[in-house]
Amino acid sequence: MAQHLLALSAFTKAELLAYLDRAMALKREAKGGVRHQQLAGKTVALIFEKPSTRTRVSFEAAMYGLGGQVIYLSGRDTQLARNEPLKDMARVMARYVDGMVIRTFGQEIVDELARYSSVPVINALTDLHHPCQILSDIMTVIEKKGAVERLKVAWVGDGNNMANSWIEAASRLGFALTLACPEGYDPNPQILARAQAEASQPITVVRDPAAAVAGADVINTDVWASMGQESEQAARIKVFQPYQVNAALVQKAKPDAIVLHCLPAHRDEEITDEVLEGGQSVVWDQAENKMHIHKAILEKHLG
Ligand code: CP
Ligand code: NVA
Repeated sequence: MAQHLLALSAFTKAELLAYLDRAMALKREAKGGVRHQQLAGKTVALIFEKPSTRTRVSFEAAMYGLGGQVIYLSGRDTQLARNEPLKDMARVMARYVDGMVIRTFGQEIVDELARYSSVPVINALTDLHHPCQILSDIMTVIEKKGAVERLKVAWVGDGNNMANSWIEAASRLGFALTLACPEGYDPNPQILARAQAEASQPITVVRDPAAAVAGADVINTDVWASMGQESEQAARIKVFQPYQVNAALVQKAKPDAIVLHCLPAHRDEEITDEVLEGGQSVVWDQAENKMHIHKAILEKHLG
């Protein structure tokens, strides 16, 4: 049976650590000049119903970097846009390609594609989850801090897809996570409750950003209006103003805290230009690591 990557909660701690270890080894090898070919002869389809710079290009570069090939399909390019049933698309695509990477709206779309696909389906962002992103974020944390266990991670802003996947990662990997979200913008309650029940370290939602970052090793934020929420942008800017990651907020964390943002960033909205470009920001390494983690994911699921 095909092994899908739909959400982090489906994986054990050992499985998640294996992706991270492998990504770090592949990164070292690539930088050392090793030319990988383990996916030679394999093809992956990238089905993207939302825009992407990093995820698309890093998946493509990862696939080529392992000797494989890519077919990119935007939302407009498939019969899905004309309401072909997903279960038909899933079974047809599986006859042509060795895996599918999909970015779309509802998580149920990804789940349905996986249900009918005999080749692996990898979630490249839905409204509910962004699992591959959080793996590369945690890889970056491990590179900078040595390990993620026992760290205190803060999430400041919207309880969105990124927040949900961070919650699942905290529960599986065993680090403390405090999320500061405005009322009405909390993470998914089912994901939160399940993660809290299974976690070894506290996972907490608070309203005060200063409380979330106090003593934190890692500060994370993301856009205030995600893809698909463009019409809410103006209203959200007002609600989220107190949740800006700026120098004053960063000062309340540990002096050596690192700042993560999955990008794209809206400078001087959710994060100031000063912090994004400052010495505690690790966003460029974080973006690079998407490619290395995608190699580890593609190798494991398509290899
Ligand atoms: N971080 C991230 O997923 O970026 P893209 O939307 O550019 O893929
Ligand atoms: N929460 C953001 C992440 C973008 C990578 C969105 O869904 O648009």
